[in-house]
Amino acid sequence: MGKIIAITNQKGGVGKTTTSINLACGLALEGKKVLLMDVDSQYNASSGVGYKISNATKSVYHMFIENLKYEDVIKVDVKKNLDLIPSTSNLSTLDFVLGEKKEQYKNVLKEDITKLKSDYDFVIIDCPPSLGIINICVLEIADSVIIPIQAEHYALHGVVQLLKTIKSIKSTRNTKLQIEGVLVTMYDNRTKLCRDVYEEIKRTFGNKTYEALIPRSIKIAEAPMVGESIYEYDKSNKAAKAYAEFTREVLKQNGK
Ligand SMILES: Nc1ncnc2c1ncn2[C@@H]1O[C@H](COP(=O)(O)OP(=O)(O)OP(=O)(O)O)[C@@H](O)[C@H]1O
Ligand SMILES: [Mg+2]
Repeated sequence: MGKIIAITNQKGGVGKTTTSINLACGLALEGKKVLLMDVDSQYNASSGVGYKISNATKSVYHMFIENLKYEDVIKVDVKKNLDLIPSTSNLSTLDFVLGEKKEQYKNVLKEDITKLKSDYDFVIIDCPPSLGIINICVLEIADSVIIPIQAEHYALHGVVQLLKTIKSIKSTRNTKLQIEGVLVTMYDNRTKLCRDVYEEIKRTFGNKTYEALIPRSIKIAEAPMVGESIYEYDKSNKAAKAYAEFTREVLKQNGK
């Protein structure tokens, strides 16, 4: 049975999409069968693995609106061992479109999930920077969450709200939900601020904090523009090595 890991933090620009792409591609390179699910209307994860969104693209939005199933929206083999559920910009309207019907639509994502889990070793979900309906639905179907945190001032602000939401979902609708781990991104060990933030994160999350620290690198920002993971774009880059180390930690943690 595969594992569903949501990459989430309602704070914007902390490295969720970058982490989703490079964890999904890293696991695929390690020979695992991976599904990358993009539920952010900015669809950066979809384009980041080289998939071109068009007007005809179907996403999780259409699963809600047109009663499509997972198999109708999955794009197979976007890379070796990697399938994709792309996103579309209209996903941002979902909270508004559903209105009062929110609750009944939540089940749409849950319905086929057992089959999805049996087809893949890992399902990696790139979440939007909000705690709207789609993010809540994802937390209700996920086995665990990875929280990327940018090493900066007030890094943990907002994470408190996320932890409260996780706790509440865990105690009601998804008792299996775990925190898989916390990943520090855009780390620069030359600055005291980054080192202090890392210590604070370790004090808060203990051994849930990944040893791998993702450094800042311009290559990380360039790679998605050509639809490549950091391993394809510049394998010897320090961020590529850090994301590979992080991928191995995730595998080890899951006994794989
Ligand atoms: N390690 C890094 N080094 C340099 N730039 C990075 C790094 N990680 C991410 N970035 C850049 O920072 C920006 C934000 O990253 P990313 O899109 O992954 O964050 P996000 O949390 O998904 O953002 P959003 O909340 O908007 O979805 C992007 O331009 C990305 O290329
Ligand atoms: Mg993103």
